[in-house]
Amino acid sequence: MVQQVVENPDSEDSEDKKDKKIIPLDADDIALLKTYGVGPYGTLIKNLETDLVSCVSRVEKLCGIKESDTGLAPPSRWDLTADKQATQEEHPLQVARCTKIINPGTTDAQYVINVKQIAKFVVGLGQHVAPTDIEEGMRVGVDRTKYSIQIPLPPKIDPSVTMMTVEEKPDVTYADVGGNKDQIEKLREVVELPLLHPEKFVTLGIDPPKGILCYGPPGTGKTLLARAVANRTDACFIRVIGSELVQKYVGEGARLVRELFQMARSKKACLIFFDEVDAIGGARFDDGQGGDNEVQRTMLEIVNQLDGFDARGNIKVLMATNRPDTLDPALLRPGRLDRKVEFGLPDLEGRTQIFKIHTRSMAVERDIRFELLSRLCPNSTGAEIHSVCTEAGMFAIRQRRKTVSEKDFLDAVNKVIKGFKKFSSTAKYMQYQ
Ligand SMILES: Nc1ncnc2c1ncn2[C@@H]1O[C@H](COP(=O)(O)OP(=O)(O)OP(=O)(O)O)[C@@H](O)[C@H]1O
Ligand SMILES: [Mg+2]
Repeated sequence: MVQQVVENPDSEDSEDKKDKKIIPLDADDIALLKTYGVGPYGTLIKNLETDLVSCVSRVEKLCGIKESDTGLAPPSRWDLTADKQATQEEHPLQVARCTKIINPGTTDAQYVINVKQIAKFVVGLGQHVAPTDIEEGMRVGVDRTKYSIQIPLPPKIDPSVTMMTVEEKPDVTYADVGGNKDQIEKLREVVELPLLHPEKFVTLGIDPPKGILCYGPPGTGKTLLARAVANRTDACFIRVIGSELVQKYVGEGARLVRELFQMARSKKACLIFFDEVDAIGGARFDDGQGGDNEVQRTMLEIVNQLDGFDARGNIKVLMATNRPDTLDPALLRPGRLDRKVEFGLPDLEGRTQIFKIHTRSMAVERDIRFELLSRLCPNSTGAEIHSVCTEAGMFAIRQRRKTVSEKDFLDAVNKVIKGFKKFSSTAKYMQYQ
């Protein structure tokens, strides 16, 4: 455009006068020329648009970093009408069970499906399903008109069972467990060895232990160690609290246990940890009313499931309790829970280590005699030592200091160990072990 403008007067000029000097356009002229054809608010609008784009990208950046709890996109991105349309186009499927495959492996395979409360049908496959996807006894989704199989479904498992799976690894490692060296060794032997070196057991011709029972007084690190195991292993970790399996209705608890093991079997490797198992594993007794006990039935289902899976399989069961003497002998017999690991009170070395572990993240003075401190707390558990460390920190905060001194620890030992003696149940629990 500029060229044209420059040339035109040039050609006109050349016709009239040849000697007239050509004045080249300078920068101001070009800027002026560039405004031709642009509306009065053109630049303003342009600026506004770029501003808007940068604003939106900034907002998205801020929203995007925050992971929403529900897994939904931010409301600004919702497209409700499109979603509505999509749901209208996709017809809901019906859940059925594929009970039998006729002529499996051939091109004219047919599938017998059982739609609950309607009927049985012989149907074919939908467009998006491969014949290898469907097995006998599987749950499938079928469409409502031709009942052809549209989608294979996972087995039905109670959502409360699925919720028990520990997805995030706990941040406890073996290094956070003080003392208990033997216990760690025994646990790892049972949990890790069969998973990592199954051939050792095959060549010897023995079955690795299926389960481990951890027992000991409260606060000696049973749950802690199980969490460390969960952190270390790549296997799926399912954590069940015994009381979760106690249900209101008859047969519900046993069903939960069954579904739990069913889910475990579907994983490549799986560890099930029953914490506080005395809630359900109590010895059977007659309550004198002739009625049977729902809790006992749940426990018997566990016994049954323990027998059910293959020892060389990849399910391992861990249980923890304070009262091993109350457990049912059937649960404890060799072949079910072979290993019994006692968590005793930590010895002097263990206590020193536990002190060091709990003061690792604290601001403490440099030369604190942890040996001396652990000598001052005989017969105390890991939890009590943790409490001593917290108390020492509280003393320091009360005196507005930024570091914890040895004197704080001594005061805390006095307060915790002496003061809690009245509450301590360790001695009582030791006699059950
Ligand atoms: N060996 C240990 N090393 C380090 N910390 C320990 C140890 N034992 C216990 N603790 C501390 O005590 C706390 C409680 O321990 P934990 O929850 O493992 O007790 P528990 O044996 O499961 O008791 P309960 O039988 O009452 O469930 C832990 O969070 C940890 O801070
Ligand atoms: Mg515990």
